[in-house]
Amino acid sequence: KNEFILSPSILSADFAKLGDDVNEVLAAGCQWVHFDVMDNHYVPNLSFGPMICKALKDHGIEAPIDVHLMVEPVDDMIEQFAKAGADMITFHPEASKHLHRSLSIIQDHGCKVGLALNPGTPIEVLDAVLDMLDMVLVMSVNPGFGGQSFIPATLDKITRLREKLDATGRNIRISVDGGVNADNVREVADAGADTFVMGSAIFNAENRSARIAQIIANLS
Ligand code: DX5
Ligand code: ZN
Repeated sequence: KNEFILSPSILSADFAKLGDDVNEVLAAGCQWVHFDVMDNHYVPNLSFGPMICKALKDHGIEAPIDVHLMVEPVDDMIEQFAKAGADMITFHPEASKHLHRSLSIIQDHGCKVGLALNPGTPIEVLDAVLDMLDMVLVMSVNPGFGGQSFIPATLDKITRLREKLDATGRNIRISVDGGVNADNVREVADAGADTFVMGSAIFNAENRSARIAQIIANLS
């Protein structure tokens, strides 16, 4: 059983003081930094690139950077984010022409390997590459924006995915991304997730530390 991980999505942070915001939420009990890369091609939004990832590492951020590539094509960005200090790189299978090759590139750069499943993508997509995965990112919203509502059908998908991953005998994390908050995080954990991406629930809170403490308490 993996210990629970909170991976705050910086998409909802204050970009005018990104380093301070990241340090604040890490100090309050979050473990990773979820880095939402959007290219206005795979998703209808544009966020930030490898330079910002490098800036956080140069700023002294030591927490694992959990890069979520919502980009197409994928392979060049894998290389650039690995060099910029990414610890985990996740992409969407639909965005790669050669799934096994893209996963291999992540492995070759020494990063942990993740695949993101959109609400419309069945878990069977994973079957041919399960042995290459360190994590599956289950999207509980359609990718592209923060602040959306959690799609309830995701809970059953998480449970079916947990069974599939447990059957491999390998330790593969399930991260859930989109509309996760203090009120539904326990339900998401009970469905089988162990890693929780939260953007607006954390960064839009009146008191971020208190909100993070509440989330941790709800998971305890
Ligand atoms: C959406 C991103 C999510 C999003 C989460 O495409 O992948 O990480 O930023 O934001 P909230 O937690 O606000 O739904
Ligand atoms: Zn994300």
